Amino acid sequence: MKIAPSILSADFGALAEDIARVEGAGADQLHVDVMDGRFVPNITIGSPVVEAIRKRTRLPLDVHLMIVEPERYLADFVRAGADIVTVHAEATPHLQRALVQIRELGARAGVALNPATPSDALTWVLDDLDLVLVMSVNPGFGGQKFIPAMYAKIRQVRTRLGSRAVDVSVDGGVKVEHARPLAEHGASVLVAGTAIFGAPDPVAAVKQLREAVATG
Ligand code: DX5
Ligand code: ZN
Repeated sequence: MKIAPSILSADFGALAEDIARVEGAGADQLHVDVMDGRFVPNITIGSPVVEAIRKRTRLPLDVHLMIVEPERYLADFVRAGADIVTVHAEATPHLQRALVQIRELGARAGVALNPATPSDALTWVLDDLDLVLVMSVNPGFGGQKFIPAMYAKIRQVRTRLGSRAVDVSVDGGVKVEHARPLAEHGASVLVAGTAIFGAPDPVAAVKQLREAVATG
């Protein structure tokens, strides 16, 4: 199981320090939420901030694009240092093309599914992706409540992927008590914002999440 702290809940005024802290705690990758105020109500950061983060950490950057027409910005984010670029199935009519483009640019390609989007959306792109991001809240804000119906969707996604070496990542409201059941349902990456950066000790929070995968 990989642990991916989401910087959405970090202190943006002290981002480099917050990132160094979770990197030291053994986080596996850093989840970066990009919101445009159109696909989701909130606005966060763009590629210049990704570029700045890239210079401050060795962790792979997992960039979650919650933006309309993601095709227009793929090259910017890969150039800025994204290792994984995830687009929403709901945000583009040309999902397959977007995934091919991400891989051609040299990054790993991810597809995110809103809670109400069926896993069928993946059927014809199974060989074009490296990661599936199952949203366990409706995207747009940190600190929301985990939607338990997503356990079954994670299992469905894992079954659809068959033996392909694709990560199944879970994003939204993930707390320590979800870690073990998420692993059992087939998740391989836990994204957590509030549970890590909102905790009194983010270093301990990363370790607790990892331990909970094994012990429940
Ligand atoms: C929600 C974002 C999540 C968010 C998760 O739109 O995609 O990555 O940061 O934060 P928590 O863990 O607080 O739900
Ligand atoms: Zn996210």
